[in-house]
Amino acid sequence: MSKKKKLTHKTAKAAEPAAQAEELREQIRHHEHAYYVLDLPEISDAEFDALFLDLRRLEDDHPELVTADSPTQRVGGEVSEQFAKVRHRSPMLSLQNAFDEDEIRAFDRRVRGAIGSDVHYCAELKIDGLAISLTYEHGRLVRAATRGDGTVGEDVTANLRTIRSVPLTVDPIPGLPPVFEVRGEVYFPIAAFERLNAEVEAQGKPRYVNPRNTAAGSVRQIDPNVTASRDLQTFMYTLDPGGPCRSQWDVLTSLQKMGFRVNKHRRRLASIEEVVEYHAEWQRRRHELEHEIDGVVIKVDRFDQQLELGFVARSPRWAIAFKYAPEEAETDVEEIACYVGRTGVLTPVAHVKPVVVGGVTVRNITMHNEAQVNEKGVYVGARVVIHRAGDVIPEIVSVKEPKQGWRMPRKCPVCGGKVVREEPYIAHRCINPFCGAQRLERVRHFASRGAMNIDGLGYATISQVIDRKWVADPSDLYRLTKEQVVELEGFAAKSAEKLIAKIADSKRPSLGRFLYALGIPQVGEATADLLAVEFGSIEKLGSATAEQLNAVEGIGPSMAGEVQQYFEGQGGELVGRLLAAGVQPEAMEAHGGGPLTGKTFVFTGTMDGMGRPEAEALVRRLGGKAASSVSSKTDYVVAGPGAGSKLEKANKLKLTILHEQQFLELIRE
Ligand code: IVH
Repeated sequence: MSKKKKLTHKTAKAAEPAAQAEELREQIRHHEHAYYVLDLPEISDAEFDALFLDLRRLEDDHPELVTADSPTQRVGGEVSEQFAKVRHRSPMLSLQNAFDEDEIRAFDRRVRGAIGSDVHYCAELKIDGLAISLTYEHGRLVRAATRGDGTVGEDVTANLRTIRSVPLTVDPIPGLPPVFEVRGEVYFPIAAFERLNAEVEAQGKPRYVNPRNTAAGSVRQIDPNVTASRDLQTFMYTLDPGGPCRSQWDVLTSLQKMGFRVNKHRRRLASIEEVVEYHAEWQRRRHELEHEIDGVVIKVDRFDQQLELGFVARSPRWAIAFKYAPEEAETDVEEIACYVGRTGVLTPVAHVKPVVVGGVTVRNITMHNEAQVNEKGVYVGARVVIHRAGDVIPEIVSVKEPKQGWRMPRKCPVCGGKVVREEPYIAHRCINPFCGAQRLERVRHFASRGAMNIDGLGYATISQVIDRKWVADPSDLYRLTKEQVVELEGFAAKSAEKLIAKIADSKRPSLGRFLYALGIPQVGEATADLLAVEFGSIEKLGSATAEQLNAVEGIGPSMAGEVQQYFEGQGGELVGRLLAAGVQPEAMEAHGGGPLTGKTFVFTGTMDGMGRPEAEALVRRLGGKAASSVSSKTDYVVAGPGAGSKLEKANKLKLTILHEQQFLELIRE
């Protein structure tokens, strides 16, 4: 399996069929291992497929040459109606849990109290999948089983054989008995899970809830072809009996040697401080992984010490799961409110009974529009599953008993104005331009970080100055006086002076920031920068025709129309008032070849404030290249939510990965 010689396609030709078949099998096993276990493919997918086809043809012509462990036999023909029950040779135990530092330190004290201070821990990631057991006899996989209740599991051999990182044959390390068992975890890689969900969505079927349940469902399919189509993966961590191994660390090394997939982030740690650090490191880095983890597992490394510690109930005393806060939780929808944005668009927000997800208390979940509320089947009183991964915004993954029929209000919840749905948009809008909510949101957007960046001018202050009728639009901010600000709640002489100074400091923004601050419909940060580079001044942009705008790469007809109409109407008046108040936007220039000359960008996933075409056009306008696929020649990968295989590849190639905000910062540098 781990032979170093580079096997090539050609060596298998011309020999006797039996020898040819064996040679092809060897090659395929080698490349399966390189690809699925080591993540280090040596040949292209097409070359691999060619080898596979050669073997399949040969076996078709000579059926007597087919062996049970041939790579072509991963998917057997059988569809079983029920899984046979399997009694485990030794029970599959579970782990005690620790949820915080105190609990993990208490574990360490118990361990040291029992066996003394000469302890090393083997630390591993806790893979969020399902436990499986693989039994080998004379180097051949004979049975695969789920954990079941720990004593009796289900025989899922036909299904697990289809997972390419599960070796059908192995070279056991010297000293292992003829029958041994390997245990570990099957999981659904996030990218594969996203792909599956994209597929089911395209077929109009409901999305799968999470990778773990879907992995479990995929392993328990009656048709192995379904399991085979799911791109499941494995990590193995137990060898029973351990044979010559003297520690957990030895086991992991030996499993890897035998061709099993073993997680590379394992570490041998000398103290509980290092354990705490390891736990914190992977809490921070968990989203770099291609799979979900729900904690780390800490095991006393040496087997003689494990033996001394023994077991309590159904868990070993020598191991513990040091968990992370769950990223999914169930709660109830108490209300669906509607918020009015700066362009008047109404956004439904589900207020839920507060619940901790991914370490943060979630109370509100924003949904996009009426259609989305109904697609998910959300309503007041619904029991919902909420997901929040890392710094990702919480979302409703599923509804226990979905119901359709939720409607947007017909009147604006803030000003009582008329709410319309302008075809073809799916959004509902309050069309009263004097709506207080819109006014507030416009000023808030104007002052926000990506826009004029007026530090210290938050929601509370803006609502006060609007309520007092000192500010009706952003240009009024520049007329505020220190005497006025002092009167506001939360201000004293010094802080008022500071705010006035900050407002004055914002008078020379880059043209890109200024355009973004105006809040022109459809113009996000990247588009604003693009227009700024393209037109150079607010006067030129303000007088551009829709045709001239549309001629810019990255600006489509609908956006061109919005920009032109904006300047022709009330937007143009606002710009006039801002310039009169002393605001002087500075042009952004692409010097010479442009600051991004020679740099290649790839965009993947969705972005909040910009569309991909605009972002790509901006890169090109600044001299860079926007490519569609990731390679070692890519300089930056800009990744947003939903990024899949491109992000995975970028990680593998150790490329620089930027989030949307980092991309914009880079552009503005
Ligand atoms: S060791 C006796 N190591 O966590 C110890 N378990 O509650 C057996 N798991 O059922 C488990 N990653 O499914 C171990 N690196 C890891 C693990 C791991 C995930 C799961 C496993 C087990 C559960 C324990």
